[in-house]
Amino acid sequence: MKRAVVVGAGAREHALAWGLSKTAQVTVTPGNDGMRAAGIFCSSASPLDLTADLFVIGPETPLVAGLADRLRAQGKVVFGPNEDGARLEGSKAYMKDVLASANVPTADFGTFDDVDEALSLLRRFSPPYVVKTDGLAAGKGVLVTTSLADAEADVRAKLSGLAFGDAGSRVVIEEGLAGEECSLLVLCDGERAVPLVPAQDFKRVGDGDTGPNTGGMGAFAPLGVMDTASVEVVMRTIVEPTMRELRRQGIDYRGVLYAGLMLTEQGPKLLEYNVRFGDPETQVIVPLFADDMFEVLFAAARGSLTAAPRFVTDAAITVVLAADGYPHSPRTGDVIEGLGADGQLATPHEGVTVFHAGTRRNESGHFVTAGGRVLAITAVASTLDEARTRAYAAAQTVTFAGRVMRSDIAATRGGRA
Ligand code: AMP
Ligand code: GLY
Repeated sequence: MKRAVVVGAGAREHALAWGLSKTAQVTVTPGNDGMRAAGIFCSSASPLDLTADLFVIGPETPLVAGLADRLRAQGKVVFGPNEDGARLEGSKAYMKDVLASANVPTADFGTFDDVDEALSLLRRFSPPYVVKTDGLAAGKGVLVTTSLADAEADVRAKLSGLAFGDAGSRVVIEEGLAGEECSLLVLCDGERAVPLVPAQDFKRVGDGDTGPNTGGMGAFAPLGVMDTASVEVVMRTIVEPTMRELRRQGIDYRGVLYAGLMLTEQGPKLLEYNVRFGDPETQVIVPLFADDMFEVLFAAARGSLTAAPRFVTDAAITVVLAADGYPHSPRTGDVIEGLGADGQLATPHEGVTVFHAGTRRNESGHFVTAGGRVLAITAVASTLDEARTRAYAAAQTVTFAGRVMRSDIAATRGGRA
């Protein structure tokens, strides 16, 4: 059997390991107690010391730090871009330069390390105001607000270095875009790019898209607003020009290119690129794979993608259960009720899988919260409504003190205001 190593410790990596395990022998490093309980082998060894046919790197931080380069230097087959390609996510300023060179539609913007210059562009835009940190901030470095005063205060806080340290030492001020948001993840093999099933995630912590941005409170796929023709437009106007520009810069990009899109009245525009699988989008994309996921990722890593992977016609939804105080100051150590010894639902529900993010087992073997996002309850069914009903029925059986959960994931079927 083929062997795969997945690098990471969250629900995204749990979903990747779960999908790859169908046809491969999987090791996750470092993994988490929930994966271990589900029978997935977890290792504390560095991926540099492991052997496998394929290495799949989950999070952005090791990619930006050059883990893929080091593994490739050892002759390993790696799914995930090198440090040069990972800059697309590591620096919004670099990403915006690539978009400008490739003529990709995106919001107008400016990058600043000076407060007065940043404020002067901010005042020229109309609401909503958008202020971003230049560096990595785990999805939490973005403020979108209709209040100019709040936006100005955010610029000052970010540039003072107090809010995000070095990640905030430069800010990006952006034109606010209106429309439906969509995540189109594509697989790249250095030359070609092929789309995965479009998904939507829910970034704000509260129902009705209220409260602060988070890493993502839920997701669903496929999307009513993103049909095959729209996917083709995004591939032609956004993804392919970007791949050409990366190649022109000598970048051999292999892995996921995640396009965060706004479907505006003028057509799709790019909000951001991520250089890895989305979390929680992966928790709904993986269960819909119809093809052998190992073979697909292996082909991308080897530079030999032939066709876009196929997906089943079912719908999937994932609902994130987060810790009390998420996203600002999540509390850990709360005992989780409703999970069995295998980390899955104590009361099984048809079509439902639990992917673990921030959990660990305490001395008495109980699962307790150990991070901001704790669990992703994923349901698959033949219709989105049924998947949604299943996920929420299952989520009701998993409780812990202060549990934070949105009740409206996929409620409007991709028709959010
Ligand atoms: P980002 O991390 O850049 O994707 O930003 C996080 C979230 O902020 C996005 O998912 C959008 O909901 C919102 N956002 C980012 N940029 C803009 C923009 N230019 N206009 C409107 N909303 C935005
Ligand atoms: N779901 C958003 C992200 O993975 O960044």
